[in-house]
Amino acid sequence: MGGGPPDAGSRGAVRHAETAAARGTRALHNGYTDLGSMVDQGCRSCDARAVGDYYRDLAADYHWIFPDEIVDFPGVIGGTSHDNRELIEATVSALPSGARVLDCACGIGTDAMALAHAGFQVTATDAGPGMVDEARRRLPAEVEVRVARWEELPAAVTGPYELVVCLGNSLVHAGSHQEMVSALSSMRQVLSPTGMLIVDSRNWELLYRERPRIVPADRVRERDGVRCWCVYVWSIPERFGEPCLAELLFLLERQDGSVTHRRHLIDFQPFTPADLEARLAEAGFAVAGSTYRPDRQRYAFACRVAG
Ligand SMILES: C[S@@+](CC[C@H](N)C(=O)[O-])C[C@H]1O[C@@H](n2cnc3c(N)ncnc32)[C@H](O)[C@@H]1O
Repeated sequence: MGGGPPDAGSRGAVRHAETAAARGTRALHNGYTDLGSMVDQGCRSCDARAVGDYYRDLAADYHWIFPDEIVDFPGVIGGTSHDNRELIEATVSALPSGARVLDCACGIGTDAMALAHAGFQVTATDAGPGMVDEARRRLPAEVEVRVARWEELPAAVTGPYELVVCLGNSLVHAGSHQEMVSALSSMRQVLSPTGMLIVDSRNWELLYRERPRIVPADRVRERDGVRCWCVYVWSIPERFGEPCLAELLFLLERQDGSVTHRRHLIDFQPFTPADLEARLAEAGFAVAGSTYRPDRQRYAFACRVAG
């Protein structure tokens, strides 16, 4: 969801971001909707939520974010990172047929599905058990699906992989500079020395410059007799170094005309492309391809193992 930073610098700082989300959820339940003030207040205690936890309830609704051709079998390679599809397709098409591929932020399994259908031997992992359950339900049996945080990958999966993908603006949940370097290092450890890593991100600097408040999806989607309209409500603090929040709102209309809504609060720890490139370098990667442009909402880096 798409997806220099405030280098939070410590695990505690990540907890602070999570606390902002937890406070936000509580405040919403209490009827407050000023998420901006929650960002300001978010660092006063440390009742942390597990990373990926906020995706637990979102797992059942997550498909609404994507058009049918991306969530329905057989899916589209790079479908969750639409603006970057050319780079992703080019990297994937250079793989040997049947190569081993790891999607380490698989969400509900959309990218893994398309890669498996293209004949690759796919492993799909994610920190969120809800996401993993949903991915397992959607993916063919031959895809190995398991819960694993990025730093657990070397123990959780058996490499080496020829391609690791971390798409859909997922890395923004890694936390501090050091935590992102550890996450990326784990990805490198399970990658073959000749393999490639593809990561993508929202252009956070552009978002902080434009400071949108309400961003509706460009179209209503209809599935199983329900019509859904998806809206992001952003709370973006003044300083780039502070995490921002998005309330993700799904407005659902049933066939009888009744309307309900579900909402999910997600926090993001933004970073610049230069930060990402520096963290990749620290983790032992060199950027071999980039789609970054200052005026584009999203970008991807295709990376090889350095040296
Ligand atoms: C924005 S979603 C993208 C999911 C999928 N790639 C897609 O595009 O549909 C971010 C995903 O990253 C996962 N995630 C967050 N922190 C993680 C971590 N530390 N390790 C592994 N996965 C994580 C979340 O559970 C969530 O499924």
